[in-house]
Amino acid sequence: MAAERLDGREVARSVTRELAETLTTLPFKPQLVVVRVGEDPASVAYVRGKDRTATQLGLTSRVEVLGESTTQRELLARVLEISADPEVDGILVQDPLPPPLDIRAVQEAIDPAKDVDGFHPVNVGRLWNGGRALVPCTPAGLIRIMDFYGLEIAGKRVVIVGRSSLVGKPAAVLFLQRDATVTVAHSKTRSLGTLTREADILVAAVGRHALLTREMVKPGAVVLDVGINRVEGKLRGDVHPEVTEVAGYLTPVPGGVGPMTVAMLMQNTVMAASRRRGDGGA
Ligand code: GUN
Repeated sequence: MAAERLDGREVARSVTRELAETLTTLPFKPQLVVVRVGEDPASVAYVRGKDRTATQLGLTSRVEVLGESTTQRELLARVLEISADPEVDGILVQDPLPPPLDIRAVQEAIDPAKDVDGFHPVNVGRLWNGGRALVPCTPAGLIRIMDFYGLEIAGKRVVIVGRSSLVGKPAAVLFLQRDATVTVAHSKTRSLGTLTREADILVAAVGRHALLTREMVKPGAVVLDVGINRVEGKLRGDVHPEVTEVAGYLTPVPGGVGPMTVAMLMQNTVMAASRRRGDGGA
């Protein structure tokens, strides 16, 4: 029997519907600025998606494109300038940057109150401390999918494969905050399959197609596939297609976690705007 499909597009629509309602109550129009450096094709597509969704939702959205040869100093100066603009509520710089530009220094230059990616060390620290952080969008989207489908988190064993700052580490904190027992696995983890088979909730966030096979999944488990891999021109996850035969619930790729990332970015932008402009924190 095939696993029940966790439809990220549907969850994302419900998030944006809610946000649209919130927006009608705000006396201002939140503004998002997305900075892209160079012409990396995946980044061009992602940034276009973020801009389009923001505009459709009724935010003011601006994409700032900087040339491939932009220097670190120029990029930092521009980010500081945008970040200091009182009309701007949210700013993000699309990763990856062309080498040798350093994304970390750029993330640290953004005002934490406008850091809608949730990557600034202040937001990372607040997240780990249980404070009022802006939370990274993809892991926030995972929790939202669980809640939308009424899937329990408290007391469950969660295994996250992948330890990136973008997904694995923040996802670990978010599941921990919801009273799960969390293990983070990575490339040096021994007996990965034995470990993943213990998971009630399995998060695959490695970036290698079909890394997680059916033998590695506990029957009936919730499997959240964060992988976005291009295989023969198609988007594929980190989870082998056969996993649907053993899992209880599974996010498809595409149409699972991906749409949630953009929806949660919209939520962060509205939240950042509300908090900063003193509207109570939507
Ligand atoms: N590149 C891939 N995912 C992301 C993301 O969530 N934010 C930014 N800024 N860059 C990315």
